[in-house]
Amino acid sequence: MILSIESSCDDSSIAITEIATKKLLYHKKISQELEHAVYGGVVPELASRLHAEALPRILQECTQWLPLLKAVAVTNAPGLSVTLVEGVTMAKALSVSLNIPLIGVNHLKGHIYSLFIEKEAILPMTVLLVSGGHTQVIEVKSLTEMTTVASTMDDSFGESFDKSAKMMGLGYPGGPVIEKLAREGDENSHAFTIPLSQSPKIAFSYSGLKNAVRLAVKAGGEEEYPNIAASFQKIAVAHLTQKLKKYFKTKPPKRFAIVGGASANLYLRERIEELLRPHKAELLLAELKYCSDNAAMIGRIAVEMYMLDAFTEMEDLQADPKSKL
Ligand code: KG4
Ligand code: ZN
Repeated sequence: MILSIESSCDDSSIAITEIATKKLLYHKKISQELEHAVYGGVVPELASRLHAEALPRILQECTQWLPLLKAVAVTNAPGLSVTLVEGVTMAKALSVSLNIPLIGVNHLKGHIYSLFIEKEAILPMTVLLVSGGHTQVIEVKSLTEMTTVASTMDDSFGESFDKSAKMMGLGYPGGPVIEKLAREGDENSHAFTIPLSQSPKIAFSYSGLKNAVRLAVKAGGEEEYPNIAASFQKIAVAHLTQKLKKYFKTKPPKRFAIVGGASANLYLRERIEELLRPHKAELLLAELKYCSDNAAMIGRIAVEMYMLDAFTEMEDLQADPKSKL
C-alpha cells in the first residue's frame, strides 16, 4: 500500500491506495474553505497552520495500515510554499520512521490521474486542466511524457471565478457560487468580449475579463449579479472552447479530458461535449468528488510511479512552489 498526502493549497488530505489493485482503502479530506471564505481567498499562513493541525488528526485514523506501507507519496509541487512544506515534512517523518521510500508528486500530474482513481489508466489523451492556479492544455502520452501546449498568460480560469465572486461579495471559492447564480441570469445581458479572440496564439488570458466584470459590478446593483455571473461564465468558457477549436484544427482530439477543481462546472462540461461531438472524441471526467484537490489522485499516480521505481531521495524532496508540469 501507498500512503499519499496532499496539502498544496487549502485541502488537507490523506489516502491509502493498494498497489496491486489500485483500490482506495482510505481517503479523507478536510477542506479549509469556510476558514478562508471570510477573507475572499486563501490566506497562506492560515492554511499552513490548519494543515499542521488537520494532517496529524487524519493520520491517526491510518495507524492500522502503517506497517503495511511500501512507500509514502506527497505533493511537493506546485502550490503554496508554506502549505506544501506541511505535507512534505510529514512524508519525510513517515519515510524515516517506517523505513520506506518517498515519492514526490507534481500536483498537476496528480489531477490528471484523478481520472483513473480505482481504474486502469487509458492514454494517450489531450487534457484541459482548469483549477485555481492553472489553465493548461496538456498532451499526455504517458506518465513521463506530458507536454503543455497552451497555458494562461495571467489569471487562471478558476481564479477568474474566485475574483468575480469576491467582487460581488459571494465568498470563496467562487466557482460553485457563480455557476449557481448564473442559472438565474441571462447570459446575453452583458456583452463581455472573448479574450484573445483576434490572436492566432493558442493561449489564455483572464485579466481583461476580470476587469470587465469589475466595471459591470460597479455599474449594476446587486439585482444585476445573476446576469453578470451568467454573462461572465459564458465568456470565460467561450474563451476556452474558441482556443480549443483552433487547436483541434491542427490536432483533432480522439480522447479528451477535463481535470482540476473547475472541471466540476457543468456548463463547461456541456460546452466541451458540444465541441467534441463533430470529432466523435471520447470525453473523460473525474468523479465530482475527485475534481478538487485530494490525496486519492496523488496516491493513484504514486502507484504508477512506484511501478517505475520513480522514488525521490530524502534530500532531493523539497517543496517546489513554482514548478511546472
Ligand atoms: O483543483 P482545485 O481544487 O485547486 C487548485 O489546484 O487550484 O481548484 C480550485 C478552483 C477554485 O478556483 C474554484 O473556484 C474552482 O476550482 N471551481 C470552479 C467550480 N468548482 C470549483 N470553477 C468554476 N465552476 C465550478 N463549479
Ligand atoms: Zn488542484
